[in-house]
Amino acid sequence: MGALDIFCYTLWILGSVTAFPFGDTLNRQAVLKTNIQTTAQFPNNTWLENIAVRANGQLLVTTIVPDAAVYQVDPTQSHEPLLVAKFPSALACFGIVELGLDEFIVTTNNWTLSTAASPPGSNSAWKIDMTTFSESSGQGAVITKVADISTATYLNGMTVLDKTAGTVLMGDATLGVIFYLDTYSGEYEVVLDDVLMKITVPGPVKLGINGVRLLGDELYFTNNNQGLFVKVPIEKDGTAKGPYEIVARFDTILDDFAFDTTGNSYVTTDPDNTVDFVTQKGSVTTVLGNKNSTLVAGATSAAFGRTFEDEGILYIPTNGGLAGPVNGTFIEGGKVMAFDTSVVA
Ligand SMILES: *[C@@H]1O[C@H](CO)[C@@H](O)[C@H](O)[C@H]1NC(C)=O
Ligand SMILES: *[C@@H]1O[C@H](CO)[C@@H](O)[C@H](O)[C@H]1NC(C)=O
Ligand SMILES: *[C@@H]1O[C@H](CO)[C@@H](O)[C@H](O)[C@H]1NC(C)=O
Ligand SMILES: *[C@@H]1O[C@H](CO)[C@@H](O)[C@H](O)[C@H]1NC(C)=O
Repeated sequence: MGALDIFCYTLWILGSVTAFPFGDTLNRQAVLKTNIQTTAQFPNNTWLENIAVRANGQLLVTTIVPDAAVYQVDPTQSHEPLLVAKFPSALACFGIVELGLDEFIVTTNNWTLSTAASPPGSNSAWKIDMTTFSESSGQGAVITKVADISTATYLNGMTVLDKTAGTVLMGDATLGVIFYLDTYSGEYEVVLDDVLMKITVPGPVKLGINGVRLLGDELYFTNNNQGLFVKVPIEKDGTAKGPYEIVARFDTILDDFAFDTTGNSYVTTDPDNTVDFVTQKGSVTTVLGNKNSTLVAGATSAAFGRTFEDEGILYIPTNGGLAGPVNGTFIEGGKVMAFDTSVVA
């Protein structure tokens, strides 16, 4: 055995990994199985869509099936998920971001699973004030409408643009544009509009831009229809200040994603049932799941823990296979998985 072989063999012994090729195709899946657990699971036919983490470590997840709601999930599993907010005037709750401390913005619309579309004129943004929320009673979240985004069709992903200015950016998966919203005044407008956000490929995937996140002054987004992960540098008003750049191309359907502390990304794929690690240079490794795996069945988004205790833990909400059953038949309740990423980076 050469030095490299011995190294491989040692890793094989340590990790009980049967195949351990080097480089960007590194398959860490076998290692990671012991570093992932279910934080909470909801009943069948619950589609968890997006996630934000409170400063106190509690997780907020939005639902688009069976209704438009926000739940709090305790990562330590000391209590069952708590219903925080329900939006009776809408059918689905999509994006969620924290603006001020414990003040969240969410978007709702009338997307349904049977139509897989949202009717124009059904989109709104809301504020959820969690500062008065009581864990013991499950009451006290204060919900106010920020604005009806009447020119939008299908708001999906959202990111904070400027906390102090109270501004957010929201992707429209049907129109293939990004809306800017001033949550103080309620004013909104389209600030980014590019072919890389649009539906251009004929076929069943009728979503363009989906996940949207800001890293420094670079806005990253996924495009489901084109299988793209893209970035563009932006100004403080949300407009582009440089060219769009394709970070990586996929033959799977991308959903939301999270950045680690060094700017690499964990991108979820639904209904391809994986979490993929994407380096800043754009090399892609599947680190969790596969098309026929229930591990992260219908992974929809990802967010890192914020407390000392769960540093490096990635929380992954799922829809349990509602967008496409695992192996064609299997559906389970949407869940939140906790994944220790220290084994990846
Ligand atoms: C959205 O759904 C709600 C609840 O069913 C309904 O009251 C409202 O009229 C719908 N709005 C649009 C624009 O479809
Ligand atoms: C997934 O499972 C289905 C049904 O059992 C099978 O036909 C298919 O080949 C499997 N795909 C993969 C990638 O394993
Ligand atoms: C599909 O996956 C489920 C869950 O892993 C499993 O119980 C079932 O046997 C699988 N069915 C087929 C046809 O592979
Ligand atoms: C969830 O749905 C699956 C597939 O439809 C079914 O096999 C399973 O029994 C359901 N589970 C519950 C708790 O109803």
